[in-house]
Formats: sequence, structure tokens, C-alpha cells
Amino acid sequence: MTKVQLEVRGKVAIATIDNPPVNALGAAVREGLAAAIKQANADASVVAIVIASVGKAFIAGADISEFGKPPAPPSLPDVLDAIEGSAKPVVAAIQGVALGGGLEVALACHGRVALPAARLGLPEIKLGIIPGAGGTQRLPRLIGAAKAFPMMLSGEPISAGKALEYGLLDEIVSSDAVAAAVHLAEALAAEGRRPVTSQATGELTELDREAFEALAKDALKKAEGMPNVPALVEAVRASFALPFAEGAAVERKLFLSLLVDERSKALRHVFFAEREVAKVPGIGPEVKPREIASAAVIGAGTMGGGIAMCFANAGIPVTLIETAKAALDNGVNRIGAIYDISVSRGSLTPEAKAARMALIKPAVGLAAAAGADIVVEAAFEEMGVKQQIFGELDKVAKPGAILASNTSYLDVPTIAAATKRPQDVIGMHFFSPANVMKLLEIVRPKGSADDAIATAVALGRRLGKVPVVVGNGFGFVGNRMLEQRTRAAERLLVAGALPHEVDAALVGFGFKMGPFAMADLAGNDIGWRSRKARGLKAAVADAICEAGWFGQKTGRGYYIYPQGARAGQRCPEVEALIARISAEQGVTRRSFTQEEILARLLDPMVNEGARILEAGIAARPGDIDIVWINGYNWPAWRGGPMFWADSVGLDVIVKRLEAQAAEIGDKALEPAPLLMRLAAEGKGFADLRA
Ligand code: 3HC
Repeated sequence: MTKVQLEVRGKVAIATIDNPPVNALGAAVREGLAAAIKQANADASVVAIVIASVGKAFIAGADISEFGKPPAPPSLPDVLDAIEGSAKPVVAAIQGVALGGGLEVALACHGRVALPAARLGLPEIKLGIIPGAGGTQRLPRLIGAAKAFPMMLSGEPISAGKALEYGLLDEIVSSDAVAAAVHLAEALAAEGRRPVTSQATGELTELDREAFEALAKDALKKAEGMPNVPALVEAVRASFALPFAEGAAVERKLFLSLLVDERSKALRHVFFAEREVAKVPGIGPEVKPREIASAAVIGAGTMGGGIAMCFANAGIPVTLIETAKAALDNGVNRIGAIYDISVSRGSLTPEAKAARMALIKPAVGLAAAAGADIVVEAAFEEMGVKQQIFGELDKVAKPGAILASNTSYLDVPTIAAATKRPQDVIGMHFFSPANVMKLLEIVRPKGSADDAIATAVALGRRLGKVPVVVGNGFGFVGNRMLEQRTRAAERLLVAGALPHEVDAALVGFGFKMGPFAMADLAGNDIGWRSRKARGLKAAVADAICEAGWFGQKTGRGYYIYPQGARAGQRCPEVEALIARISAEQGVTRRSFTQEEILARLLDPMVNEGARILEAGIAARPGDIDIVWINGYNWPAWRGGPMFWADSVGLDVIVKRLEAQAAEIGDKALEPAPLLMRLAAEGKGFADLRA
């Protein structure tokens, strides 16, 4: 089946791409486009050509799923050369998004027409690459490098209006982009317009070059080791220095080398995992979400307040409920103060703040939840408290309302058992600060209604979150794995590492913060309380809390924070305390390399991830990766813990875990059966997808 149809309307040939869902430029489309250009040029009755497409997207770019496979001819640059070199002018009719290779197709055309809703961008940077079909050469020539470079650096698409202002579009029409493109194509045939690349490099002005160099300097400083930023700078620089063909060759070489880089592979994995996570096993499109027009949040603490802000930010009226007026006032004031910071930074107007505050209705007492379509409970993390709240909610909430608990660890069916409507009770686990963090774990206990889960997923997206549906089980996905890392970090201290060494290993890996700096920021007392409640011990962490060193809020924790400093300094007393505990446990302290520290921190997480998969708590390894990237700051270019494990090799991880389990005598470190099986078969977690 051909993916490109050619039709002649009057004197203009129209090549229409039809490759659902987003008209990606797979081999068949490239072939179809090349053939259409050739055929139209051979047809003496044709004076000009239009490239159009059907569906929501004009063209979403190269087909990302082809990356990493043997290239199939014709290459995109060859097709674009044919478009640009066409003796008859070619006009793009852009009805939807033109992204990546899609915009590059439009740039190779001699003219561009778009509908007002179209968006145009070069998002390659987000995939760890750079535009690879002339984008870095044609866009600066067309709109100037000072405007082109930021578009390629951020990867964010611009509106049709902006594109017109930049000179990237010839025209915006309110409807029928194809008719307008035909019209323009005929005019260009009469006028004989030059293609973008025929502009001499001299047409990029010195002023433009200076502006670009200033932007490039800044970008390189912030590049954080990502190789595609320097590559982008180099490619754009080539557009000034070299004729088009040579500049394009520079770009292509950089593009191809980035494509095989492990970081780009990881980002591509994340792209597809993000989309797969949206598909909940057993819940198809026939399951319709319930309507959510209003919400209630129980608990106006940091978490409840943040969740209420999520609703208000999405324009959903929300009742914020507390047991007493004073706590409620505090909560509302805290929300106001957070919005004020955004106003002072200029990211929120005072009017928008007022509109959001007006959507938050403070109330005392659970009866105020009566009208809400969804109630999110964010009260104290204790089963008794939650059961009492859900018991009362059962009496006041309207029939069909979703009753969600923001619990981070507790058993959701036990909470649901306090009601007579367990089908409507689910978990919605937000991450702190709830108004900022993207991750939303949606806990799907047995017995919950499919449409309740579908509602939570749809709502999560409306709130701007990345919803991941997880099974019920202590700590669900994220916190269950985090606990393994926390235990590993404590073990490392006792064995001989110091807090700053452990933190440095994770920061070196790409995390913003290590576990001890993080614990100091969140408050060491939180983990202490939870350990005590569960009868668990951690010698170093407990001793630090017994000394009253709760972290930044007390001026010291694993580190010291003189005069309220945000960055901690090494603390000799803590280091002496750790040495004492090692001695008490009869451990001869030894030093660890960064690599050893990483393995000891991350291997147990991967092992727990395997157990989570075995238990069906996560549907796919990619879901676990999405949880860690969006909720725990795992660097996206490392692909998530399960992707990382595959890149290390599961056999290597199994051996390291076995060695550690034997050394420490901890059964929890023995490799999970799934990990063992995959390693023995020479497979990775990615093979579970097949
Ligand atoms: N290649 C392959 N598949 C793609 C794709 C692409 N470029 N873009 C989207 N898809 C697939 C998705 O995987 C998804 O598949 P699924 O239904 O099987 O899960 C389907 O299309 C729909 O995608 P979304 O769920 O993302 O749909 P939305 O409507 O939310 O968004 C979109 C549409 C804005 C086009 C979004 O998909 C998007 O941003 N796509 C990626 C754009 C991109 O990065 N392009 C650059 C590619 S690299 C390139 O062009 C290199 C060149 O310079 C040589």
C-alpha cells in the first residue's frame, strides 16, 4: 500500500502523505515522496507541486522506531535534495504539527502555508540527537541563526503565528491549507522562487553570527555533558562557514554519531516507554472515564496543599478540607505564598494567581466533600486515620465519586474495606512537591472498577502529570525500590564509605542529589519515624536522628549547614560516629570506588524492580523506568533503572548481587528469579516486551 498518493489538480500535483498515526517518515513514505516528485516533474501538464498530508499531524518527523536498524534507502536528505532540486516549485501545506524531519521536509520546499493551529519545531535535541536532514543548515538560512538556534536547542515547537513572524511560513490560512498551497505553488511557478539553500552564506549577517555565538556560549555552559549540544553548535556554525552541501555533511556526520550514542538510545527508549505507559493492560478505549468537574482534597498540609494546587492549576474547582480552622488557614496561606513566588519570578500573573486561589475553597469537616466528583485524601500516613476518613467519606461522598488515597505505602484494599464501595477506592500517589513533580502512581487494587482507573489516568493527564498505573503492594513501585537504595546507602556507610562519597557517585551518574543530601533536605526524622513504626533499624541513620540531626531544618544532618547554607559541608562528628558504628559491628572499614558505590546502590534496586515485575505490580519494565525518571530524578539519558540494567548486562548484575549477598549474608540481595532467568537466557528486561 502506497503511503503517498499523487493527484493532479489543474496545473498542480498534490502529493498526499497518509501514514497513520502521525505521518512519520518511514521508508515507504520517503520512497513515496521521492517517486511523487519525480513523477510530477515528468508530467508536462504540471507546473508546481504541493506536499500535504492527512490526519492530525503534517509530519511528526523521522520514524524513530527505524533508528538503530539498518538504513533503508532513500535517505531523508536525498529525498529533501530531490524536493529542493525540483525544477517545479514545491509548497508544503501544513495542517498540523511539523516536527523534526517533518519541518525539514517543509524547509526543503520552496514555500510553506499553514493552518493557525499548526506547530513547527525541531525536537531532536530531546532524543539526544540533532536535526539530521538539513535542519541545522536550512533553518538558520531562512530565519537567522539567532532565532533558529534556540528552537533547536529547546526542541519546543513554535506556533504558526510565531513562525509567520519569523519568516518560516509564507502564509497562515484559516482553512483548507491545500487550496492555499496550490495557489501559492502556482504563483511561485510564475515567479521562480529560489530555494532556501541557494542563499549564499554571506546572507547570514555578522550581527546574527554574534547573537548566535553568545547563545551558544551559554548553551555549552549548561550542556551538562550532553554531547548533542556541542554538536548542535558545531552544525549551526557550519551553516555560516560552509556552503550548504558541506555544512549538511557536517550535520549528517554528527547526527549519525549521536544516533549510536548510548544516551540517545536511552532517550528513545524513554520516548516509547512514555507512550506505552499510557496503555493500561485490560483497559481499552471502550472504558470511558467518569466526568470530573470538581474535586476535594482532604488535608491541607504540604502534600494536600500541593495536590489542591494541581487541580486549581488545571482549572478544576477544589474544596480543601481540614479538621480545624487554624490548620486550614495555614494551608491556604502556604499555597498563596507558593503562588507568590511564581508571581515574583514572572511565571504567573497576579490575575492568574487570583483566579487559581478562587478555585480553592477552604472548608472544615468532611461533609464539604459531598459534591466532589473525586476526593483525594492526603491525611496522616496511618491506617487507622485513613480508615476513619474513608468510613466517613462513604457516608457523605456522592455516588460514583472516585475516592483516592494519596498513601505512599499503605494497603489500599484495607483502606477500601472501610467503605461499602471498594470499586471506587483507588490510590493516587503524588510526589512532593505535588504541584511540581510529574509522576503520579495510580494504585489499582483488585476489585477496583476499570472506569475508576481510566478516570484517574485521564485526570492525571489533565493535571499535567505522567500517570503510571501500578498494582497494590507495600511502597508500590517507586518507594519500594527507593527503600532498597536507602538500605544500600546505609550499608555502604558502615562498610567504609562516607556520605559525600556516596552522594558524589550518584551525582556523577547524573542525579541532581545523592541520598544523604536528599535525606537532609527532606528531614531525617521522616524515615526514622517510619522505621520505628515498622520495627526496623538502621544504625547510622538512627544514631543521627537520636542526636537530633534531622537535616537542613536543624542546621545539621549527614552534613553541616552553617548559617542556613543550602549546600552541606562534611561533618567530622558524623564521620566519627559512622566509624564508631563500623567498629561496634566489627567491620574493618575499606574504601570504595565510585563504580563500586554505584553498583551497590543500583543493583539492589534493579533486583527489586525484577520482583515488582514478577508480582505484576508494574506492567512493564518501561513503566518502572518512567516512575524513576519522573518521580525520583533518575537522569532520562540513562533511560531508567531497568534500561540501565540491560545496558550493564543482567549477567553482570546477577554476579554482583550474588557476591554481595554472600558477603553480607542478606537474603534480600539474592537475585530475583526473573533476573536469574533473563540473565541465564542472555536476555534483558527489554526482551519482556516482545
Ligand atoms: N516516529 C515513530 N513513531 C512516532 C513518532 C515518530 N517520530 N511520533 C509519534 N509516534 C507514535 C507514538 O509512538 C505513538 O505510537 P503508539 O500509538 O503505538 O503508542 C503514536 O505515534 C502517537 O503518538 P503520541 O501518543 O505521542 O500522540 P500525541 O497526539 O500525544 O502527540 C506528537 C503527537 C506531537 C507528534 C508526538 O508524538 C511527538 O512529539 N512525536 C515525536 C516528534 C519527534 O520527536 N520528531 C523528531 C523525530 S527525530 C527526526 O525527525 C530526525 C530527523 O532530523 C532526521
